[in-house]
Amino acid sequence: RRPVTLNTLLRMRANREPIAMLTCYDSTFAAVCDAAGAEVLLVGDSLGNVLQGHDTTLPVSLDDMAYHTACVARGLANVGGRAFVIADLPFGSYQESREQAMRSSVKLMTAGAQMVKLEGGAHMADTVRFLVERGVPVCAHLGLTPQSVHQLGGYRAQGVTDEAAAQLLRDADLLDQAGATMMVLEMVPARLAAEVTANTRLITIGIGAGVECSGQVLVLHDVLGLFPGRRPRFVRNFMPGADDVHDALSRYVAAVKDRSFPGPEHCY
Ligand code: KIV
Ligand code: NA
Repeated sequence: RRPVTLNTLLRMRANREPIAMLTCYDSTFAAVCDAAGAEVLLVGDSLGNVLQGHDTTLPVSLDDMAYHTACVARGLANVGGRAFVIADLPFGSYQESREQAMRSSVKLMTAGAQMVKLEGGAHMADTVRFLVERGVPVCAHLGLTPQSVHQLGGYRAQGVTDEAAAQLLRDADLLDQAGATMMVLEMVPARLAAEVTANTRLITIGIGAGVECSGQVLVLHDVLGLFPGRRPRFVRNFMPGADDVHDALSRYVAAVKDRSFPGPEHCY
């Protein structure tokens, strides 16, 4: 089992082979997600919600992210896992300056991340270029960007109006030109995500963004039916009919691969 590298993922994108990503926060689940066939594990700042009990991702610290990234990387190493690890730069750890973003990225990369993810459009392009030129692969994140929830006025679909869709396409293009390799598209119309995928070099990863992205991501707890609050429309619980957690995660990976997930009912 060869390790998944950025080249593996670029090749999959070129071959239109869907990439299966799951969020992951600890060593045991890292081993199980890897065994289930997920190519990419995202140590998401969604851990603020699902592990820490916050109602937003805003309180998550860089130390929190480094701790969970190290747990995931260790879990993979212990089982000879092959998954590629991405870690979220949390709120406040990269917006001040590109130097601050680099310092924060070093912390996550030395903890075991192979790529960092940051939220935001055109205004992040300089930072993205700065990081990429210094050896830090970057995943961008557009659409619903949870760190901006108070600016956006809630967790709702983005890029819905013609104007917002055009803005998102411009942002995606600028981030692509700046050197971002990957981009999460969250809660945007399926046809807009398809347009970004067709018109950029980015490896697009959708969450509530339709089936025509290069890959899909869901929060691990959502895949396993563990949502204490209300369930967003783009989530599918893979536990019903599964024998155990490994089987449920394998079914998620299989559904991403054969494009049966997401279905029209998960889209905007
Ligand atoms: O933090 C997270 O889990 C994320 C994914 C939902 C993309 O950013
Ligand atoms: Na996140």
